[in-house]
Amino acid sequence: MSVHENAKKVTTHVLQEMKEAGEKITMLTGYDYSMARIIDTAGIDVILVGDSASNVMAGHETTLPITLDQMIYHASAVVRAIDRALVVVDLPFGSYQGNSKEALSSAIRIMKESGAHSVKLEGGQEILESITRILTAGIPVMGHLGLTPQSIYKFGTYVVRAREEEEAQRLIEDAKALEAAGCFAIILEKIPAELAARVAKEINIPIIGIGAGNGVDGQVLVVHDMLGINNEFNPRFLRKYHNLYQEMLGSFHRYIEDVRSGDFPNEEESY
Ligand code: KIV
Repeated sequence: MSVHENAKKVTTHVLQEMKEAGEKITMLTGYDYSMARIIDTAGIDVILVGDSASNVMAGHETTLPITLDQMIYHASAVVRAIDRALVVVDLPFGSYQGNSKEALSSAIRIMKESGAHSVKLEGGQEILESITRILTAGIPVMGHLGLTPQSIYKFGTYVVRAREEEEAQRLIEDAKALEAAGCFAIILEKIPAELAARVAKEINIPIIGIGAGNGVDGQVLVVHDMLGINNEFNPRFLRKYHNLYQEMLGSFHRYIEDVRSGDFPNEEESY
């Protein structure tokens, strides 16, 4: 039996065993109870309560405005839904940068108040002190390198990162530093496939990609994107498994029509 079939509950150790066995790790975002329940039932390994909630749930242009309280609200709903998946929660912008004590207290709040299993932080060597402090408290940490959306105003654009040798080299050093600090996995977002594959080969912890090609240990997508709920977001790396935008629009149109015409509710739908 494979490692993931054998795992009644996914832990950071299970993910490490999956990497060592060459089994791909599956990961999707989740922000609410109902969706997380379906994702967990499908057998996903990891649910990320991403700060992309700021975009897809709250309609903000960037991930910067979401607060720690809001992340805890989303994470609590997801934790109530899952039986098997490992739940990772993003530390939001402003809750960890530049102050490792604040980083630790933010991570503790997430773990205590939501019941999640781990946290994710964006960045490399510049946030190592925060990561180390959180790890010292026994909280598992996932890293996130490459395109880090909380730094969008520094980058200025969402284009592919680390195409140039200098940035690629820095990313490899960052990944090594995160591994040495004790992170249990790293997300690589929107970087060349060849670079991502090299990192996954050189680093012993699981490397999960989004827009980072197929040479990594697993994949993550934003659930609203892969279901095609958002029809305005169509990057090259995204595979859409549904066109829920059209499906839902059609259902809402039919409902409006049925109510207006007096067709709904009929006798069988009435008491
Ligand atoms: O917030 C998020 O959804 C993420 C993924 C894009 C990896 O960080």
